[in-house]
Amino acid sequence: MRVIALLMAAGSGSRFGAAEPKQYSHLLGRPILRHAAEALLADSVVEALLPVVAAGEEARVAAMLEGLPCLPPVAGGATRQDSVRAGLEALAASPPDVVLVHDGARPILAPGMVPALLTALETYPGAIPAQPVTDTLKAGAEGTIQRTVPRAGLYRAQTPQAFRFPALLRAHRDATAEATDDAALLEAAGLPVALLPGSENNLKVTYPEDLARAEAALLPRFL
Ligand code: C5P
Repeated sequence: MRVIALLMAAGSGSRFGAAEPKQYSHLLGRPILRHAAEALLADSVVEALLPVVAAGEEARVAAMLEGLPCLPPVAGGATRQDSVRAGLEALAASPPDVVLVHDGARPILAPGMVPALLTALETYPGAIPAQPVTDTLKAGAEGTIQRTVPRAGLYRAQTPQAFRFPALLRAHRDATAEATDDAALLEAAGLPVALLPGSENNLKVTYPEDLARAEAALLPRFL
């Protein structure tokens, strides 16, 4: 079975507030993107990574990932969905059996996460890691609570998200609305997606203070 992972890195990281997109910031001396790449490859089931990057960053990212099994980076688009679509279309001529889609800003994966997702694909066309919501949720507008949203049965979606390749390619080609993850496109197509337990360490570095949390979670692996 051929498994290829899209490594998503075409975002500008505007919420991070730095000159550089967050995925290029360093953790323990190495780019977050490199940590994310190594985490995907750790279980030895991913054949190669396909980095999806901002136009013009291809050579820099290829250098950042030197020594890892990587296809030549492709340029992404204006939204994450556009970027994933660009990656999928680049694979379509020689389609893998399974595609993983992983945020380049998520440097830490639990060992065994990727194999567990692949096992779920024996039954489902898609599978994702997710964590139950623990905070109380409020819908608000202009600084005032409008209502409380019951949190029972709600999850925070993480990546890597795993799909049978033809199902995800079709879902992207048929998409009529914008989605912030790939599972949403399978849902829109009426296809079932398995929910697997994620990990609190699988954080997406979004704000500068996330760097310290990620570093603390990564450090034990390097001792
Ligand atoms: O913006 P968000 O935090 O949802 O981005 C998640 C991942 O998707 C990041 O790794 C980011 O680089 C990537 N992305 C992308 N193309 C975009 C926007 C985001 O590849 N246009």
